[in-house]
Amino acid sequence: MDRRRFLSRAVGALGATGLGACAAPRQRFEDRLGALRDPLAADCYGLTPGIAYLNHANIGTVPRLVGEAHRGYLEACETNPSHYMFGGVWDAAVQAAREGAARYLGCRADEVVLNRNTTDGFNVLAAGLALERGDEVLFSNLNHVGASVCWQHFAGQRGYVVRKFELPLPAVPDMNEAELVDRHVKALGPRTRVLVLPHIDNLLGVRTPVARIAAAARQRGVEFVLADGAQVAGMLPVDLANLGVDAYCMSPHKWLQAPKGLGLLFLSRKIQPKVTPQVVTWGQHKWEGSVRRFEDYGTRDLPALLALGDAIAYQQAAGIERSAMKRATLWRHARDRVAAEPNLIWRSPRDWNLGGVLFAIEVRGAAAEPLAEQAWERQRVVTRAFPAPGLNTLRVSPNALNTTAELDRLFDVLARHRPG
Ligand SMILES: Cc1ncc(COP(=O)(O)O)c(C=O)c1O
Repeated sequence: MDRRRFLSRAVGALGATGLGACAAPRQRFEDRLGALRDPLAADCYGLTPGIAYLNHANIGTVPRLVGEAHRGYLEACETNPSHYMFGGVWDAAVQAAREGAARYLGCRADEVVLNRNTTDGFNVLAAGLALERGDEVLFSNLNHVGASVCWQHFAGQRGYVVRKFELPLPAVPDMNEAELVDRHVKALGPRTRVLVLPHIDNLLGVRTPVARIAAAARQRGVEFVLADGAQVAGMLPVDLANLGVDAYCMSPHKWLQAPKGLGLLFLSRKIQPKVTPQVVTWGQHKWEGSVRRFEDYGTRDLPALLALGDAIAYQQAAGIERSAMKRATLWRHARDRVAAEPNLIWRSPRDWNLGGVLFAIEVRGAAAEPLAEQAWERQRVVTRAFPAPGLNTLRVSPNALNTTAELDRLFDVLARHRPG
């Protein structure tokens, strides 16, 4: 693998030039990444030794090299704060991070907003999309609160209506793609103008057939299809050019393993003129007609944005295909172990093409929260319990750095559990 070639593409042909005091941490990052034997090895991450971190759907872990680069940029910034924050030193580097993200996501750089997170992206849309009184915004019960509450919050003020439809959670694992499409299409109403889809939801990990649903919805008059990619960007390849959505909101601090509190928002060129930015400051005149008017927040965490470029470069150096294969292997291993244990129930899609490395497991007769605690106390395994209405599951979300042996430590706890 020619990592150096990957790197210069991923961080933008810019590399370390033109970065002032940030050139040194960037150069160190490039050199050390180029020399790394295996970017997915456990010692490339700062997790507490011995813990099995299976909660990447919640928040990811930043690779050591990305964290070091980030700290290096922060330190450089402190050598002359106003120069680094406002002197334009990093303009080209931030633009290179945007271009790297665009290449990674299969879209154009002038469609990528560097924002704060998925919730931020949906708030921009719920507050600013050109909708009329009585227009309907539709989503299912699998839609995350961060992609739902903003619509409910602004509905009264803006005059649109929000409707939520129910997918029967216990039946979802057995649904095929056609049925998932059909359920969404049947839920559309005559006034549905906006359809919000979790590309992969955070409860069951259903990989929604977004492109098919988007095409069917448009035929029925839906104007805006907006997708939540919080659980996809970094977990699965994203091909925005062919997904058929107008907007796609992401949180790179999960699977892309970028510093916390950064977001990516894809706004297609078609939708951009139909969204009014809600936070504006001096740059608005400068960014007229540009996607950058959606990130004109005033002072921002530019060192973290530089590190986002490095985080994407790191993913590419680790090998997108190789990581994807590792994730699929982990998923298969878990699914097969659940199938082999009579006291366990797999609550997620049974077909990898409709799922992801975010899956829900129920233990017959056991409450999810104490199980998560036991997994931690007995095996130092981190998962997340979902004792939601209609669900009593542990959500398990390994990433490519995890191993089947770590999953087995969880199964040691789950498979041995007997109803008390
Ligand atoms: C599917 C989904 N959407 C949105 C969010 C909200 O993410 P953030 O807090 O980064 O905005 C999450 C967080 O877990 C999520 O899983």
